Amino acid sequence: MASGKFYITTPIYYPSDKLHIGHAYTTVAADAIARYHRMRGEDTFFLTGTDEHGQKIQRKALNAGKTPKEFVDGIVEGIIRLWDRLLISYDDFIRTTEERHISVVEKIFQRLYDQGDIYKSAYEGWYCADCEAFFTETQVDDLGGRCPDHDKPFEMLKEESYFLRLSRYADDLLKYIEEHQDFIQPVSRRNEMVNFIKQGLEDLCVSRTTFDWGIKAPFDPNHVIYVWVDALSNYITAIGYLSDDVKQVEKFERYWPADVHLVGKEIVRFHAIIWPILLMALGLPLPRKVFGHGWLVLPDGKMSKARGNVVDPHELIDRYGVDVVRYFLLREIPFGSDGFYSEQSLVQRYNADLANDLGNLLSRSTAMVQRFCNGKIPEPAEDDGILRTEAAACIEEYEKCMDSLELSGALQSVMRLIGRGNKYIDEAAPWELARQPEKQARLGGVLYSIMEAQRVAAVMLSPFMPNVPGQIFEQLGVALDGTSFWWPESVQWGGLVPGTVVNRGAPIFPRYEATIEAGGA
Ligand code: MSP
Repeated sequence: MASGKFYITTPIYYPSDKLHIGHAYTTVAADAIARYHRMRGEDTFFLTGTDEHGQKIQRKALNAGKTPKEFVDGIVEGIIRLWDRLLISYDDFIRTTEERHISVVEKIFQRLYDQGDIYKSAYEGWYCADCEAFFTETQVDDLGGRCPDHDKPFEMLKEESYFLRLSRYADDLLKYIEEHQDFIQPVSRRNEMVNFIKQGLEDLCVSRTTFDWGIKAPFDPNHVIYVWVDALSNYITAIGYLSDDVKQVEKFERYWPADVHLVGKEIVRFHAIIWPILLMALGLPLPRKVFGHGWLVLPDGKMSKARGNVVDPHELIDRYGVDVVRYFLLREIPFGSDGFYSEQSLVQRYNADLANDLGNLLSRSTAMVQRFCNGKIPEPAEDDGILRTEAAACIEEYEKCMDSLELSGALQSVMRLIGRGNKYIDEAAPWELARQPEKQARLGGVLYSIMEAQRVAAVMLSPFMPNVPGQIFEQLGVALDGTSFWWPESVQWGGLVPGTVVNRGAPIFPRYEATIEAGGA
């Protein structure tokens, strides 16, 4: 069992609306990675939360006739409910309106000001309040004057502001990125960032005076701190950076730097430029990895509330169950690329992988153990080693994929083992062996290895599908009793005890026969 610590974060979500399946995607991915590291025995800390300040939220609250805090409280409650339903095993949930966060952001801002990394100047530029970001003249021209993500015109904003000296750190950052090839992943995103930095970094406007829903600059309360500086800091405030409580400070020392910041591709630049520069200015080590995943897109484009095409994760969980939704999201889209979402593709994936392969193998193999072995897992008296060898290869592949965050690849390796199990049954034809008394030792070897392969597959599925391993184990006749799996101990071949009475039940993944309209949700 590996030791050591593993600190993983999701972006903190804007509680401006109910979250959709795209947000669920990021969080489910982080959860599977966190569960895998816990299984490896690492001291894992998984952080998520909400990014509650900024003009967009203030406007939304006003429209809803609520104070910003009342408004976000309602939405945050819904987000927590969603994470509970998706079985997200986060260790902490940080809200940027919490005192533990606010007081530390104030200290950070003051410190950067005192040491000259933040200075006052005037700013005029094109702004999108929904992105909470300024755009250059060229960007605005290229985009025809409208923000493509929010489908509204950019506004001209002029204000006296505080600026962060990004320019001071650009060379150091570039050097760091070039010396740490794993820092920004996948490689395509790293290249984008390197090109961006090479064009030269302008100092960043890090305060606003046009609204007041934010953390006030401690040395100038007319200014609120730019929401991205506020938000990015969550990764250290949540684990006790500059806390007055010693216990919290110990936590920070234990877990920082983060091992992975998992983010969507559109916010990589905040995490790969502004965040490392803030950390350098604070004299802190940089995160080990910023991984920018792709988007879940619909046939008519990116999913967004503004476009009115969002898919509600609750509806999918109601219809298909949480494990299936999690499996689909992480299997369907090669992690890092964009992938199309449609309910039709979910059903196809379900039928192909879960009903026809995984569920079918469990159902036919438990039936054979019942018929040919009196319902008991047989002794592997004569084992040809075919599935054991396949399992070893799949385990190796799975581990490699998990370590490089190729989540879909990891699931493919589990399904490869299951597929091999089905094929092995056809090749070995246990029903024929059962008829020949001199083939009983071989029959035992064949059926044992089929059942054992499923036990191993269940362990590999556990970070992705929290309930399914229990259902598989139940049918294999092994009580789970809430015990955890350990990696790699739990996938060592031979865990199933001969003589165990199988417990054949209803199919765990009955086929969906209903046809779903293409692209329909
Ligand atoms: N609040 C900022 C993050 C601050 S982190 C210091 C933010 N919030 S967000 O709610 O808009 O988005 C959070 C995450 O959800 C992003 O990583 C984003 O990429 C992800 N997704 C939102 N829609 C998505 C899809 N349609 N597909 C995949 N991920 C998407 O940005």
